[in-house]
Amino acid sequence: MAEPILFNEWTQLENKALTQLSSCTIEADLQKWHTQYFGDKGEVNQSLRKVSTIPPAERKSFGQEGNRIKEKLARAYETTLRELQKKALLADLNSAPLDVTIPGRYCPQGRLHPATQVMREIDSIFRSMGFQIYRSREVETDEINFELLNMPPHHPARDMWDTFFTTNPGVILRTHTSPGQIHVMRKLCPNPIRAVLPGMCYRKETITARSEIQFEQVEGLVIGPNITFTDLKGTITTFARKLFGKERQIRIRSSYFPFTEPSIEVDIDWPKEDPNADRLTKGTGWLEIMGAGMVHPTVLRNGGYDPDQVSGFAFGLGPQRITMLKYGIDDIRLFWANDFRFLKQF
Ligand code: PHE
Repeated sequence: MAEPILFNEWTQLENKALTQLSSCTIEADLQKWHTQYFGDKGEVNQSLRKVSTIPPAERKSFGQEGNRIKEKLARAYETTLRELQKKALLADLNSAPLDVTIPGRYCPQGRLHPATQVMREIDSIFRSMGFQIYRSREVETDEINFELLNMPPHHPARDMWDTFFTTNPGVILRTHTSPGQIHVMRKLCPNPIRAVLPGMCYRKETITARSEIQFEQVEGLVIGPNITFTDLKGTITTFARKLFGKERQIRIRSSYFPFTEPSIEVDIDWPKEDPNADRLTKGTGWLEIMGAGMVHPTVLRNGGYDPDQVSGFAFGLGPQRITMLKYGIDDIRLFWANDFRFLKQF
């Protein structure tokens, strides 16, 4: 009779597979076992395929028995797999216990660039005085950088700024933050303004210890009814004392900028005790920190304001200059040279 032989075959297969399974000690053995029995050409499938060779009447019970054993082996495989993985994990934990005395990996800590530190200090002083802070673009049009600031093409005052031009006619890198005045005025007109605009500027210069092709400026702009020169003076004095200390004196010299009238330059006295004083002030005891003045009526008009109704003042200061003063840095090229020996000191 065919039946007992075939059923016998299933029992043999089951016994053989389970014995082999129990002798698997690592996961790799187990995978081999799995291929041997459950692969496409594995023994389980091969036995199942024999169903076509047995008499039709016995096929059903043959198949049922086969499937029962197939499922049993699959479950046994899963259980063994989990056991082996658990064993491997435990062995791993025991053989390499956690060594808490191993030194940690060095993780370099970043810090704020000295320019950023001073910029934040300047921003917070102006915020404490009621100024809003505006960002403005670094790529400008000739029109806004010069023309609307009262410098028509070929105006000799343009020589004060050596300019980077782009291949796009009329588009330049801004030479100062003053074009931001036009943007803020056009945005806020007809409201009063009390704003500072910090940002990067670019000038085509020979790079020396005193001049770089890129540097930051902070532009200030105040516009409203009855704003006077006294307000300008009070604002800069307060700012300088907040930044440099209560005892500091400021000195105002008359100057010229096309977009302010009258125009001034502002110096701060430098303590004689400072060993760098002579070098920084070229022996005068005074150090220039900003240009400023009353906003020119033409500029007010270009910003949308009526110079008969409002007046205003503007100033532009150089934070790199101020940082050099504060920390006794004697070369402006250090700021953007990415030299850790310099940056680590702040
Ligand atoms: N923009 C001027 C400069 O770069 C400084 C300045 C700003 C002067 C605002 C007057 C008013 O030299």
